[in-house]
Amino acid sequence: MNKLKQIWRWIDDRSGFSEIFMPLIKHPVPPGAKWSYVFGSATLFCLVLQVITGVALSLLYQPSSSDAYQSLQFITHQAAFGRTLRGIHYFGASAMIIMVGIHMIRVYITAAYKYPREMAWISGVILLFMTIAMGFTGQLLRWDSNGVWSSVVAAEQLGRVPFIGKWLARLLLGGDTIGGHSLSRFYAYHVFIIPAIIFLFVGYHLMLVIRNGISEPPKAGRPVDPKTYRKWYKELLEKSGVPFWPYAAWRDLLFGALVIIAIIGMAVAFGPPELTQPPDPAIIYATPKPDWYMLSIFSLFALMPPNIESYMIVIGPVLTIIILLALPFISNKGERSPIRRPWAIFGSGCVVVFIFSLFLLGERSDWSPNFKAKPLNASTIHSTDQHVVHGASLFYKKGCLYCHKVGEAGGMKGPDLSHVYTRLSEGEMKIRIVNGGDDMPAYGGILSKKDMEDVIAFLKSRK
Ligand code: HEC
Repeated sequence: MNKLKQIWRWIDDRSGFSEIFMPLIKHPVPPGAKWSYVFGSATLFCLVLQVITGVALSLLYQPSSSDAYQSLQFITHQAAFGRTLRGIHYFGASAMIIMVGIHMIRVYITAAYKYPREMAWISGVILLFMTIAMGFTGQLLRWDSNGVWSSVVAAEQLGRVPFIGKWLARLLLGGDTIGGHSLSRFYAYHVFIIPAIIFLFVGYHLMLVIRNGISEPPKAGRPVDPKTYRKWYKELLEKSGVPFWPYAAWRDLLFGALVIIAIIGMAVAFGPPELTQPPDPAIIYATPKPDWYMLSIFSLFALMPPNIESYMIVIGPVLTIIILLALPFISNKGERSPIRRPWAIFGSGCVVVFIFSLFLLGERSDWSPNFKAKPLNASTIHSTDQHVVHGASLFYKKGCLYCHKVGEAGGMKGPDLSHVYTRLSEGEMKIRIVNGGDDMPAYGGILSKKDMEDVIAFLKSRK
């Protein structure tokens, strides 16, 4: 026992562990820290989980357009614990975004961004966008139709930014179109570049928490005054501060553990989302269905009239970022209590309702292709003619069914084609299919003449 102590003392003396970590563990925090303070540390727990599972996934994942899809199928269906691992990484991402969101709302509602914690807010805003960027880039790494089309849509949106749009889109995709080069690039973003930025800012964010202290729970009628705040805070800590461990930290630990158990539980119970089919570079869909945390943004743009959309694509995000970054400069002192700031509460309520209703609209997704469409079954194909049957299989393989209903199957982005032949002549159909239209891709260069004949034969067969 004594020997062990001696060894520890040697290591500690040479390495400085206690010197570095004891102040962090024991630093005094204001009393009365509540359960509402646990979301920041829960986000950190999620981040650690994402790093561990991400590294584990990278051992088997192959970031090349010819192998990515297969390697993920292998991870999901064959590798030991692969399904759970992908599931944890998937639900972990969702949990992290939820925790970041709640943490941010809590900080806003209790005005913890006011003096002297402005920099914590600013670094937090950067971390929020980096977290969303991780979700977005991760989605493309699945290299299935859904992930690829989501990125195509984003690149198209970026391309509309005046002057530098084309350049931005090239930067994002690594070329003019989406392909193997885009996958390499997204892999670099997802695995090296964005994590590096995240580590940097998380480190800074935490350092600030230690330097400026955790904000004390707000009290109505006790405004923040930058002239006296630091002195007042120091006295508060001296008078009634408690050591971080264990008085405040046990809540963080308990809640973090529950979040992680919930993530693992969901991963085991539901598994990761199945991949949709591999992308077919010949077809570009107008609006795919992205993961839920991107869905609100996608529905916002999908629901906007096209002529406003081009402007809003630029103005919207820039304005959001400016407002968020400017917040601690607009109001860095004064009342912190939510009771005295009813408009702040009302405002954040509106934002939450707005995002949630966009999400619900996206879920209903009449406007987005239904990527889960199953191939047409025999009862929908009213003929055994070889051309008709081939046309029906093309109708599925080329993605028409994602947007068009035929009989019971198919999506609702485009018109129902069950009885299209009673409306349109063969020539009219051909023109539409070759040229596309509002939200329908042009298939002129994609379908051969013979394939076109067969697709039309299929549509004609359903009188
Ligand atoms: C991304 C979704 C999407 C895909 C994929 C798609 N379409 Fe369409 N399609 C539409 C939309 C939207 C319209 C309405 C366009 C318009 O009116 O300008 C449309 C219109 C049509 C029409 C005219 C229907 C009418 O009543 O006017 C035909 C025929 C048609 N599509 C056939 C096809 C075929 C065949 C394919 C596959 C080779 C296909 N579409 C793939 C979205 C899609």
